[in-house]
Amino acid sequence: MSIVPEYTQEVKDATDHLYKLVKDVIPPMEWEVKAPYIYRINKLKKEKNVVILAHNYMTPDIFHCISDIRGDSLGLAREAAKTTADTILVCGVYFMAETTKVLSPEKRVLISDPSAGCSLADSITGNDIRMLRKEYPGVPIVTYVNTTAETKAEVDICCTSGNAKKIIDSIDSDRILFVPDRFLCRNMQTQTDKELIEWSKGSCEVHELFTVDSINEFRAAHQDLVVIAHPECPREIVEASDFSGSTADMIKFVEERRPKKVLMVTECSMSDNLTGLYPDVEFVRPCNLCPHMKKITVENVLETLETMSPEVFVDSEVIKGAQKSVERMLEVK
Ligand code: 13P
Ligand code: SF4
Repeated sequence: MSIVPEYTQEVKDATDHLYKLVKDVIPPMEWEVKAPYIYRINKLKKEKNVVILAHNYMTPDIFHCISDIRGDSLGLAREAAKTTADTILVCGVYFMAETTKVLSPEKRVLISDPSAGCSLADSITGNDIRMLRKEYPGVPIVTYVNTTAETKAEVDICCTSGNAKKIIDSIDSDRILFVPDRFLCRNMQTQTDKELIEWSKGSCEVHELFTVDSINEFRAAHQDLVVIAHPECPREIVEASDFSGSTADMIKFVEERRPKKVLMVTECSMSDNLTGLYPDVEFVRPCNLCPHMKKITVENVLETLETMSPEVFVDSEVIKGAQKSVERMLEVK
């Protein structure tokens, strides 16, 4: 366990510019606790040639103050494939760190809490995919990137919420098994004439909690509210919204359209991360927290950099199999 770092004048001078980005969501007293960690992380990552990738659901201290690359699952996978750093520290959930290792097997990949899981990744295994192949012979299998490397190694191609439509269109078949997110599958079904076969056990424990009633209540309480939803939400939520897209697409929507008031039907940190960037937009809350994403903190990131662990290891045969399905995805433009 590392010693708790202090908020000294040196720390203040080096981090004041970062506080400007998060001051609306982190009170000064909390900042004095976080800033010393941020200061040490930013020093250590340079000394050790570590690049920090952060998913859009990370808290604002991680998202704005320590990460080198931020994005949705697709963006992070693309960046992981390109980076020249010796070590990649993934601030996100375990399947993201595994995908990074699959794309950069020669690099050291770290994740501060390997128990940061995902209800979607947990809903299906490589064995389930082998069983589906027997049940649906010859039907291509697309798996959402929110799966383990072992599952990815068994399928034909991956997709993310940012490229699902393009991946479906790229497959030369009228029937496709689209697993494991049944809600993403149903949302994609409205955009294609191909038959998408769903996996009944898969859903995101965060996005499935939203209800149409709560959206209607927000609309009634806020005139001209724009509602944007992640496609992991149930179909009726997407139908009740004005726009749906991956986390990166949702950010782009806010950046380009600048709605006066917006409700982001997704994980809570998204609104926190955008508040400082778009002061002209009012973010209407609440939203739901992903307990897995929230396991990553500046405290455990500093410990990871100090010890260069926990490291992510994936079996070399699994890497070979998973590489094919992830690389095929990245080839689809
Ligand atoms: P994207 O960032 O790819 O939209 O995915 C959302 C998500 O739930 C990742 O776990
Ligand atoms: Fe998984 Fe949902 Fe959390 Fe994303 S938000 S990591 S899909 S549980």
